[in-house]
Order: sequence, then structure tokens, then C-alpha cells
Amino acid sequence: MAAAVAGCGGEVDVKDEDRVAATMFNEYCSGCHTLKSANSYGSKAEGELEGGERTNGPNFDQRKEEREDVLFAIRNGGFSGAIMPANIVVGDEAEVLADFVASYSGQGAAP
Ligand code: HEC
Repeated sequence: MAAAVAGCGGEVDVKDEDRVAATMFNEYCSGCHTLKSANSYGSKAEGELEGGERTNGPNFDQRKEEREDVLFAIRNGGFSGAIMPANIVVGDEAEVLADFVASYSGQGAAP
């Protein structure tokens, strides 16, 4: 249990102005992606997804994403177009989410 340290409640240093985006990520992306700043743990939702299908995408605590890549993934449904649906969010919401993921991804990469 040593890994379950800071931020048990999921309130992981998210700036006030980013809370809306964190909530959006949690709502739209958490089923498949992990990002602790958005209190999202993709794999944990696995059992709740219909048919127990494996839909997990990359863990954004481990992988740093650039804004443009997030926008690309949102528009096209990931990079492979296989599992992630395209255009889950569009327009301003997509921009806000892309900024959020670009700012908060890659933070869990430390040992
Ligand atoms: C139904 C599951 C699912 C949902 C919901 C989902 N994704 Fe994905 N996503 C994936 C999978 C699987 C991949 C990896 C395969 C691929 O790139 O096509 C992926 C890939 C990505 C990538 C590329 C990561 C990389 O470096 O390869 C980004 C960025 C991304 N998703 C962002 C998002 C965002 C933002 C949302 C919410 C708006 C979201 N995803 C919702 C399943 C999902």
C-alpha cells in the first residue's frame, strides 16, 4: 500500500481554473484513460464497461502528451482509430481538454 500516498481523495494539485477540465476528463475519458489529476483510473472502470471489454488507452500519468496530439486523438479517435471514439468532445471543449491533458500528463513518470 506504500504507493497510495499523496492525494488519496484524488485532489491532486489541480489549479482552480482547471477543475472544469478535470471534471470533463473524468466524465468523457476516464473510462479508458488514467490521469490522477482528473481522479481518473481507466483500468478500474474496466469491470463496469459493457461486456468487460478491454478498452484501456494509454495512462497519461506515465505518458506526456502534447496539446496537438491530444486534439488529433480527439478528432480521429486515438492514433489508430481502433477503440477510442472520434469526436467525444468538439470545439471549445476539445481545446480545453487538450490544454488540460498537455499540462497534467506525464507527472507520474517518477520512480
Ligand atoms: C472507449 C475508450 C476510450 C475513450 C472513452 C477515450 N479514449 Fe483515448 N484512447 C483509447 C485507446 C484504446 C487509445 C490507444 C489506441 C489509439 O491511439 O488509437 C487511445 C489513445 C488516445 C491518445 C493518444 C495517446 C498516445 O500517445 O498514443 C490520446 C491523446 C487520447 N486517447 C486522448 C483521449 C481523450 C482526451 C479522451 C476524452 C475526450 C479519450 N482519449 C477518450 C481509448 C479511449
